[in-house]
Amino acid sequence: MAERPRVFVTRSLPGDGLSRLAAATRCRIWPGSAPPTPEALAREAGDCEGLLCLLTDRIDEALLAVAPRLRVISSCSVGVDHIDLEAATARGIPIGFTPGVLVETTADLAFALLLAAARRVVEGDRFVRGGQWTPDRRWEPDLLLGRDLHGATLGLVGLGTIGRAVARRASGFGMRILGWTRSGRAVDGVESAELDRVLAESDFVSVHLAYTPETRNLLDARALGLMKPGAILVNTARGGIVDESALAAALRSGALAAAGLDVFEREPLAPESPLLALDNVVLLPHIGSASITTRARMADLAVDNLLAGLAGRPLLHCANHPPP
Ligand code: GLV
Repeated sequence: MAERPRVFVTRSLPGDGLSRLAAATRCRIWPGSAPPTPEALAREAGDCEGLLCLLTDRIDEALLAVAPRLRVISSCSVGVDHIDLEAATARGIPIGFTPGVLVETTADLAFALLLAAARRVVEGDRFVRGGQWTPDRRWEPDLLLGRDLHGATLGLVGLGTIGRAVARRASGFGMRILGWTRSGRAVDGVESAELDRVLAESDFVSVHLAYTPETRNLLDARALGLMKPGAILVNTARGGIVDESALAAALRSGALAAAGLDVFEREPLAPESPLLALDNVVLLPHIGSASITTRARMADLAVDNLLAGLAGRPLLHCANHPPP
């Protein structure tokens, strides 16, 4: 009987996907709660035919060069900006990823951020816990006034599956929805517009794009400057799409009323980030897909992609164009 393939998994994952993987392969799981260092990853993946990684693992030519037996890499993420796709494709290595299963969960979180930023939910929590809700401030006509979502215009930057799932939620809230996508695709219930018009006419803007060289800093100081005075920005896609210093400046000056951010140019957010000093931004630690059910589904799909690749079958979701 042929030996079972060797696989390295860069972190333990929720759900029972990894027990299926362990039954079918000789699989080592990185024991730490922090990601392996690049040196540890190179050492562990060096003799493996399969690698199951996360978005915190950099998969570049240097790693591929020291892991010549790799036949498939499967990332438990929808984003693949941590992987050098060209280098993998050149070596004939298919890259698995996990679109689809996290769409609704991520759209829920984008909506949570829209509501939290608009209605100052986190500021209110800090107010209560900080002991500021005292008998002489029992109910104040102007305490923590926020903005209404209902009746407002939501601008979607990107109309892929997650952008469209946010649009469905927004229509339930009675919002007018404008949307921009590079392909110019028409989406039911969404008025298509050029990016500048989406930014200029929306009370809320939510970003739903993949991070690529083309989308890097797409929302720079100029683009943020087009936004309506007092508008609110939400980003659950990738931090590098928004110029974070320009955003902090717009939030500090009051040009933008608030922001809700799940992703950052550098993660974890650096202690010296100017965003930490601002009350009008809700900060989350990249948890867009973090529901119990969805994380287990992502792990399952990542395992299915890996097993398909090891068996020489097409992956269920392959990020290389075209697949090798
Ligand atoms: C999360 O950001 C993912 O890419 O899955």
